[in-house]
Amino acid sequence: MRNRIMGLFAISAITTFTLAGCKDTPASNAPVTGNGTNAVSTSSRPVAAENGNPVTGNEILVGEYASLTGDTATFGKGTHNGIQMAIDEANDAGGISGKKIRLLTEDDASKPEQAQTVVTKLCADDKVAVVLGEVASTRSIRGASICQKYGVPMISPSSTNPEVTKGGDCIFRVCFTDDFQAAVAAHYAWDAGWKTAAIFKDIKSDYAKGFAENFSAEYTKLGGKITGEQSYQGSDTDFKAQLNTLKGQDPSCVMVPGYYSEMGTIARQAKEIGLKVPLLGGDGWDSPQLIPGAGTALEDCVFTDHYFSTELKDKGIEDFVAGFTKKYGAAPDALAALGYDAAKLMIDALKRAKTLDGKGIRAAIAETKDFAGVSGTITIDANGNARKSALVMQIKGKDFKVIKSYTPEQIGK
Ligand code: PHE
Repeated sequence: MRNRIMGLFAISAITTFTLAGCKDTPASNAPVTGNGTNAVSTSSRPVAAENGNPVTGNEILVGEYASLTGDTATFGKGTHNGIQMAIDEANDAGGISGKKIRLLTEDDASKPEQAQTVVTKLCADDKVAVVLGEVASTRSIRGASICQKYGVPMISPSSTNPEVTKGGDCIFRVCFTDDFQAAVAAHYAWDAGWKTAAIFKDIKSDYAKGFAENFSAEYTKLGGKITGEQSYQGSDTDFKAQLNTLKGQDPSCVMVPGYYSEMGTIARQAKEIGLKVPLLGGDGWDSPQLIPGAGTALEDCVFTDHYFSTELKDKGIEDFVAGFTKKYGAAPDALAALGYDAAKLMIDALKRAKTLDGKGIRAAIAETKDFAGVSGTITIDANGNARKSALVMQIKGKDFKVIKSYTPEQIGK
């Protein structure tokens, strides 16, 4: 049942919703299954020389690195809750061949250098069998280089930059990549009748840089024109000079592939200087803090995303949402769903692994096919990636609304 989720997303409100004055195309009801036609079947990823940390004794140690504090703390907390819930469920059901999973969580304080330090600790000192993390691509790229060096399999729940899994054959993810997500944003903008776009990106973020590149490529292919590009750094607080420059170029929308942590300020300052066109973003906007940070400045703006709990009508998903809400007192966001799926997929692989060491666990993860996650059906391709549908969300008052869903096939990816 669960693997019908993406199809179910597309039903109901999504198909009929249209933006005032904008052209819209119908969404598809087709779920994404398997590798699809464009999946890569061969890989040139580096092969790890080491064999990770073989499981010894009665526990399976699993490491997690997460932004529990710092700029993007809601990413780390949501993800951690999802991971913890999946591991608690597995342990309550008896564990894996009688062994319980013990989760060792390290806070990287939303900092790339700290991510590298704590992942080194998890792999070299704690000797974890598997690593789960991170959300932000810049930090996952750092963590991946360490996991690959030690031969420890790593699963990122939600890092979408294509580079993350290019680090080697130990690295996997359960989410789609930005060459797809940014292309979805480009299609949405084009279909909405926005024929010119400006780009405003964080040059310290691998996610933002990759997203902007992929957006430009697809948008110009569709016939759109990029009017100009400006940049900032995540820690900046005054964005008005760049926003004024973008305004002068008169775009019909502005793509800001940033994180929720700066989006509120950017959106409010855009309004203040009279830049009134819609802002467009990616999954990095998804946070319970987005709307409180922006006030009404992001009203009607749109972003691409992975998952949205209130749209779900599937029994498996309903159970997840109910269980999560009971455990943590709030509905799961996309981060929580992806954290839950990363841990569930790992547990499934641990059960199937022929040997509980780096090579055995890595092979079992790589062989994952049609895994029924709460965020969609997951098949790991030869490059360690998943292929799933993406949602387009719109900000309405205090809520996000799903207005559209795209499968990879729909946009030729
Ligand atoms: N995809 C973002 C990145 O790679 C992280 C993210 C995922 C943020 C999902 C919010 C929701 O950096």
